[in-house]
Amino acid sequence: MSLSISIFGLGYVGSVTAACFASMGHRVTGVDVNPAKVELVESGRSPIIEARMGELVAEGRQTCRLHATTDWNAAVRDSEISFVCVGTPSLRSGKLDLSHVKHVAREIGTALREKRSHHVVVLRSTILPGTTESVVIPILESASGRRTGADFTICYNPEFMREGSAVADFFQPPYTVLGAQEPHGLAPLRELYKEVGGVVFETRVAVAALSASI
Ligand SMILES: NC(=O)c1ccc[n+]([C@@H]2O[C@H](COP(=O)([O-])OP(=O)(O)OC[C@H]3O[C@@H](n4cnc5c(N)ncnc54)[C@H](O)[C@@H]3O)[C@@H](O)[C@H]2O)c1
Repeated sequence: MSLSISIFGLGYVGSVTAACFASMGHRVTGVDVNPAKVELVESGRSPIIEARMGELVAEGRQTCRLHATTDWNAAVRDSEISFVCVGTPSLRSGKLDLSHVKHVAREIGTALREKRSHHVVVLRSTILPGTTESVVIPILESASGRRTGADFTICYNPEFMREGSAVADFFQPPYTVLGAQEPHGLAPLRELYKEVGGVVFETRVAVAALSASI
């Protein structure tokens, strides 16, 4: 089944995720605040230097399964699942800078306010266990006026790709971790990952986030 996906952040993680899902037959919209990255994808060129990314982005554009935009509202409106892949760099204090994650959560929540159908929000950015519950969900609920579980689902799907073999790692991961607040919330992610090899661990959001930070 072909799913409609929006991916926030066309950096290393987001662009590999976008190109690989598009090559699996899904319809993918990459969203970035940097117009240069959007333009690169739109013109069929990879925004990162990584093996196989050039051919996958070009193929995605040729098949019209991959495109990119700065229009976050339309990207959420026209997709069923949104992946959050923005950066979370370390601050001088040692804490993670959550400003981009918070910004995107506010954008997705704002777009969800106008959306009638159920939506799945999947975090891939590195955040500490508990941040989804204490930071991301309150922003999404406040901006959307909706409730997690009832109106949208929140999941965590950490990324274990290595630079240099990221595309191969995406398609042949040793394992995949899928976390959701409620077990039934994992259905769309199961569908997405069913053609990807390796063992799949299904768990709660906080446990999935813990697996990303060790
Ligand atoms: N690179 C890796 O190998 C790797 C490995 C594991 C985990 N991670 C985690 O994945 C996350 C992303 O890492 P990365 O290396 O891809 O980051 P990156 O800095 O390369 O890319 C982040 C992208 O997000 C974009 N962005 C910022 N604000 C935005 C917004 N409001 N809307 C849309 N786009 C926005 C930036 O312009 C940039 O293109 C981080 O949390 C990182 O810790 C990365």
